[in-house]
Amino acid sequence: MLHSLEVLIASQKIAARVQELGSQISKDYTDKQPVLIGILNGAFVFMADLMRQIDIPHASDFLRVKSYRSDRSTGVIQLDADITVSIKGRDVILIEDILDTGTTLDFLINHLLKKEPLSLKVCCFLDKGRNLSVREKVSYTGFKIPDQFVVGYGLDYNDQYRFLPYVAVLLTER
Ligand code: IMP
Ligand code: MG
Repeated sequence: MLHSLEVLIASQKIAARVQELGSQISKDYTDKQPVLIGILNGAFVFMADLMRQIDIPHASDFLRVKSYRSDRSTGVIQLDADITVSIKGRDVILIEDILDTGTTLDFLINHLLKKEPLSLKVCCFLDKGRNLSVREKVSYTGFKIPDQFVVGYGLDYNDQYRFLPYVAVLLTER
């Protein structure tokens, strides 16, 4: 299958928004030392940029889930690797690449709450706006986008295109 890409969010726009999110988080967590937890693989590019825009001390860790095959959600979430730091009594910010059906975030919020953090907020780079009840649980959103399959800036199609510095819609060519 051949694909063509249509740029949806240019890299300069991403950088400006990530800077805003970083400032907001720095402000909201003044005098706190939050732990950023990134969801692998998709969130690593966003998280790497975001943490360098946060000017208060913070820790970072990752967990890994499997939930997606090609461009369709399987709806089944599997925790492949858990965090290694203790978050009991700590302020936690969960970092996700995109909110689609909400299954992944719902699963991980429940998973992390069992570890008894002091607080838990979610920061999501993109929001396709399909799940309103999970959206309410997201405190920081980068961009709301139409319900189309996108790649780049960490987001993949069959593990491709993560390296693109912009977000693009993946179009199938005939
Ligand atoms: P959800 O569980 O349906 O909300 O799906 C979230 C996960 O699906 C994200 O972590 C992404 O890895 C993946 N995903 C959802 N939509 C897209 C997309 O448009 N492009 C690439 N990955 C996506
Ligand atoms: Mg993915």
